[in-house]
Amino acid sequence: MEVRMANKAGFCYGVKRAIEMALKTSGEKGGSIFTLGPIIHNPQVVKDLADKGINELDCLDDIADGTIIIRSHGVGPEILEQIKQKGLELIDATCPFVARAQRYAKEMADKNLIVFILGDPGHPEVQGILGWSRDKGIVVEKAQEISRVEHSKVGLVAQTTQPIANYQEVVEALQKQGIEVDARNTICHATGERQKAALELAQNVDIMVVVGGKNSANTKKLAKICSETGTPTFHVESAEELQDEWFRGADTVGLTAGASTPDVIIEEVKRRMKELDEMTNGEESMSEAMEV
Ligand code: F3S
Repeated sequence: MEVRMANKAGFCYGVKRAIEMALKTSGEKGGSIFTLGPIIHNPQVVKDLADKGINELDCLDDIADGTIIIRSHGVGPEILEQIKQKGLELIDATCPFVARAQRYAKEMADKNLIVFILGDPGHPEVQGILGWSRDKGIVVEKAQEISRVEHSKVGLVAQTTQPIANYQEVVEALQKQGIEVDARNTICHATGERQKAALELAQNVDIMVVVGGKNSANTKKLAKICSETGTPTFHVESAEELQDEWFRGADTVGLTAGASTPDVIIEEVKRRMKELDEMTNGEESMSEAMEV
């Protein structure tokens, strides 16, 4: 059985940078260190950081001192202000691509423009951008949500993981109303590249395995794209979940991983797949030989 890896998979630049910043902080700073929310949607990484003394925090009200690491999704200005007021130390690991969307939103709000934010309203990245837009921000998930807009000019930014087609539809929907749109395409290429690579691979293998947190939106999306090709697709968080019957009779297996999956977990999955292959397909060829 041949295992083929998607040519773009695993940690993106922003996630890698945030984890490196967290690890550097744990090596350099004394006292309590916290991340505001899980640093990434991967339970193994979160546990690994907890073992190094970096714990997850839901709310700043729960602590009186220590260091706060802001994850790659970023936060709104009100959280930064709260950190300052409490005298906590700040390590800002906001991904620079997210920070750019926040900056644009703030500039637009400063110019008194309504800021349309294309994205998932419940996602922390969108909530952060909304914070920077102050009372000017409006979150939409798709073009169909935009009704009559009573402004001659508006701003538009996007959650970094949005599909480009969604963004273009929103630009068109606004322009159709004769509105001037200060449209900033803040979509990050990492997500699109990973999805494209996964799709191409899924179309050319017998089975797909997608590795990543079960609560990771981008990993779930990769699994959906792969299974929509008709290729049997299995979403696992770790090597222990792999089952030998999935690989029975398979010649080629494709492997991809979400943007929050560390290399070490991908390597473990790869190694375990090879072991299972030797156990199952190896046994089959041996019994075929005996039948002959
Ligand atoms: Fe940043 Fe793009 Fe990753 S915005 S966090 S590099 S998916």
